[in-house]
Amino acid sequence: MIKIAPSILAADFLRLGEQVRAVERAGADRIHVDVMDGQFVPNISLGFPLVEAIRRATSLPLEAHLMIDRPERYLERFAQAGADHLIVHQETSPHLDRTVQLIRHLRKKVGVALNPATPAQVLDEIIEELDIVLVMTVNPGFGGQQFIARMVKKIRQVRQTLDSRNTDCELEVDGGIESQTAPLAVSTGACVLVAGTAIFGHPDGPESGVRSLVQAVVGSNVSPRKDKN
Ligand code: DX5
Ligand code: ZN
Repeated sequence: MIKIAPSILAADFLRLGEQVRAVERAGADRIHVDVMDGQFVPNISLGFPLVEAIRRATSLPLEAHLMIDRPERYLERFAQAGADHLIVHQETSPHLDRTVQLIRHLRKKVGVALNPATPAQVLDEIIEELDIVLVMTVNPGFGGQQFIARMVKKIRQVRQTLDSRNTDCELEVDGGIESQTAPLAVSTGACVLVAGTAIFGHPDGPESGVRSLVQAVVGSNVSPRKDKN
């Protein structure tokens, strides 16, 4: 019901294949790949070769979270590299409708992410066109930050909008998701949890990281607001 998307930003890159296979064994639903350009966000992470390498290591869907200016320049390349979901930021895309249509044309799932200071209402004119709304629960750019509690209100708002206008769209949260914040995000409407540090930084390894996160949600007895697939 709740999907887990391990963010490989926190993985040990020297043992990436092994770590991706470990989260797959533990029941992860998709692999989240954070692409940063040093412009839109103050950090540089990784690009096409790594997406291609991860594609070879797993059969799970790969999602590219594009924290880059003018992402439309690179959508086709990420699709070719093996990304199944292409998530762009609303803040980087003044012609968001065109960008969304381009992703559709590539036959990939369309995601739009919102920074913490961006209101949910900016998606009002386009929400029906989306497969994923990604609510950032930290300012994008770095792993290991603290969940911004104010985002709970936005998760709720997006959930209400999706329930009335696009029930097939997934509500994903990203940033500071661990065993305390995961149940909170799920109870307010999230159905996909991105987590880096909580999974790859788990003292007993990434498999335990995935399992603890699932356990935290199940054990807290929160009822998910949305069940997809
Ligand atoms: C932040 C990235 C996140 C990050 C999450 O800019 O979009 O996906 O890897 O890391 P944690 O789970 O450590 O907050
Ligand atoms: Zn991300």
